[in-house]
Amino acid sequence: MEHQEIVIIVDFGGQYAQLIARRVRECGVYCEILPYVKSADEILAKNPKAIILSGGPSSVNAPDAPKIDNKIFEAGIPVLGICYGMQLICNELGGKVARPAKREYGHAMFYLDGENSLFDGLSKESAVWMSHGDSVVEMPKGFSLAGHTDLTPTAAVANEERKMYAVQFHPEVVHTEEGTALLKNFLFKIARCDGGWSMENYVDIAVQNIREQVDSDNVICALSGGVDSSVAAVLVHKAIGDQLTCVFVDHGFLRLGEAEQVVDTFTNKFNMKLVHVDASKHFMDLLSGVTEPEKKRKTIGAEFINAFQREANKLSNVKFLVQGTLYPDVVESGTATAATIKSHHNVGGLPKDMKFKLIEPLRELFKDEVRQLGRELGLPEEVINRQPFPGPGLAIRIIGDITPERLDILRKADFIVRDVIKQSGLYNDIWQSFAVLPAAIRSVGVQGDERTYDYTVGIRAVTSSDGMTADYFRFPWEVLDEMSRRICNEVKGVNRVVYDITSKPPSTIEWE
Ligand code: XMP
Repeated sequence: MEHQEIVIIVDFGGQYAQLIARRVRECGVYCEILPYVKSADEILAKNPKAIILSGGPSSVNAPDAPKIDNKIFEAGIPVLGICYGMQLICNELGGKVARPAKREYGHAMFYLDGENSLFDGLSKESAVWMSHGDSVVEMPKGFSLAGHTDLTPTAAVANEERKMYAVQFHPEVVHTEEGTALLKNFLFKIARCDGGWSMENYVDIAVQNIREQVDSDNVICALSGGVDSSVAAVLVHKAIGDQLTCVFVDHGFLRLGEAEQVVDTFTNKFNMKLVHVDASKHFMDLLSGVTEPEKKRKTIGAEFINAFQREANKLSNVKFLVQGTLYPDVVESGTATAATIKSHHNVGGLPKDMKFKLIEPLRELFKDEVRQLGRELGLPEEVINRQPFPGPGLAIRIIGDITPERLDILRKADFIVRDVIKQSGLYNDIWQSFAVLPAAIRSVGVQGDERTYDYTVGIRAVTSSDGMTADYFRFPWEVLDEMSRRICNEVKGVNRVVYDITSKPPSTIEWE
């Protein structure tokens, strides 16, 4: 997509670059991340208004330290180095970096020394977040000291003439009090960006692009009810209306009320062409007697694709497939290890080799931008804030054989878990929360005067930033108590409720 202005963030590994990119975009400036191995020519070909060098885990003095093509320093483009980026600038331009006796991690007070445009209007003293092993001990020629902390004498430097700035702390993290103000100074006062990147503007640009790409052909989209596919579908529909057909393959393992909500939202609210394939009975037959989780996943995944393909074959002139791919999935990282793609997690997705060209209207967006875009497009909050949900759905949350009775129990228990969490106001603090049914466990209980021999329901709730690692959520006891009481009272067949207090690792988020 053509953008009016762009800032490039050069990624030196770790997880810093994406956070910087999100902050820059929050300031209303479009930016992209490129790995440090790109040549200066490739970076400059993007015609960036400014370049930000990210932090990273290495030491500039290490023999294999990541470096950048120094031609970018000669291009007259404003540069901001952050943490490793600062050390690199100073080292490359003739300064010195060393490992101090005492390293500085976490909160620190930053004291401004001298004046320069990066700190224009900022406080003389403010809290910053430090996280580094090395520090600059000698500034390069032409640079002057901009500030220090108690343990780091050279915590910020500037060369106003060359529009080059560097800070040892992390302005992108929330613990740096005036981090956003600093980034704004860099983007608007120094690099003279115009701003104007917003989801409101993005809608117009994207709609225009989709129209040009599709022309008079037809488009198909697999809708799951998840945030990404929903936002992508509504955006494409806004661009091309009835040239888009959405196919919702309902395998019958969705949560309570979810299938109805998908149909209602897209047909009634958005007037979209939606084919609702109610294949629940068929899927249930296929899974009868299947207990092994991988087999469940494979069976569901394969049949999902068949069902989708059958519907696609019924439509004429379909050339394009909409996919809700997001920016974090396409960004080339500064290190090999940061780009970890979970192959087993695309169950419920479509294979790459389908005979369609792809439309990926969210390819440039971060998840929080997708949510904003969804709001802009009028999607209901329930869809926008929907927690991640595995493609095979409740089928993998029943441990053991899936039966209609067990599905019904799990669905009701799961609804209560979510309902109590929503009512307690905790929903947005939690990455994922749900119920699981370890169907092999039956145990004795007593309800009324009767002995029971019933199922146990497990509650799982975790916080996470990307699903790769997770911590179990610390509920107030009253909330757990409410869930437990309601599940035993309202869901026939359950006489025991347990809460999972393991993090990931060693567990996974799902039980399966
Ligand atoms: P685990 O259980 O491996 O899950 O810790 C990590 C995250 O991935 C989600 N998940 C899936 N998402 N299709 C998906 O789209 C899948 O097949 C799938 N399986 C797991 C899981 O819910 C969690 O958010």
